[in-house]
Amino acid sequence: MRALHVAIDGPAASGKTTVARGLAARLHLLYLDTGAMYRALTFLALQTRTEADNAAALRHLCEAGLIRVELDAAAPLGFRVFAGDAELGEAALQSNEVTAIVSTVAAHPAVREAMVAAQRAIAARGSVVMAGRDIGTVVLPDAPVKIFLTASVDARVERRRAQLARAGVDSSTHLLKEEIEERDRLDAGRAVAPLLAAPDARTIDSSEMSADQVVETIAAIVEGVRAEA
Ligand code: DC
Repeated sequence: MRALHVAIDGPAASGKTTVARGLAARLHLLYLDTGAMYRALTFLALQTRTEADNAAALRHLCEAGLIRVELDAAAPLGFRVFAGDAELGEAALQSNEVTAIVSTVAAHPAVREAMVAAQRAIAARGSVVMAGRDIGTVVLPDAPVKIFLTASVDARVERRRAQLARAGVDSSTHLLKEEIEERDRLDAGRAVAPLLAAPDARTIDSSEMSADQVVETIAAIVEGVRAEA
């Protein structure tokens, strides 16, 4: 059977990773959250005292092969991500320090080129559900299933609070709202690959839906596409 690529894009804390992982499990596909790659690079930048606005140095970290991912459904995150030799877990990836500057790191065209190339190489190996901001528009423009997942800011604040609590990271609802709105502004306003629904993406507003309901909705879309193929 041909490889199946499913692109799931959307703003911060819209539930992309939960839904993408659930969908991958439901369809027996592999899964990658590309946000974790930008977060791993940001973690490494903090560790090596590389400034978030130093595009050349950040690109160098990518090209040195220091950020790696392995698709592995049995891993705690549903895939493995490494910064140097260290495998990173949710607490490191979701730390407040990383979250504060990840949108700045991710805005550099030189960084995005390296990340997009790595993501395409992963997709070239086979079927995958990939979550991010630019998967349907830039990384996998030919993906037969593209979803743009949105939710109200209040719903996203609540989801992010629960996600951080699970990761053991402290948070306040007030600050989370500011952080999410600020990252929306940066991610949607950047010059290269801004957060945008692909013209052929299906938009799903999940404010009033459970993750399982969203997974079922997308699974039905995938079945429809498979039936047509
Ligand atoms: O989905 P997330 O919150 O973990 O993503 C972290 C940041 O990475 C987000 O603020 C923007 C960036 N990102 C991106 O620019 N492109 C992607 N495909 C995924 C994430």
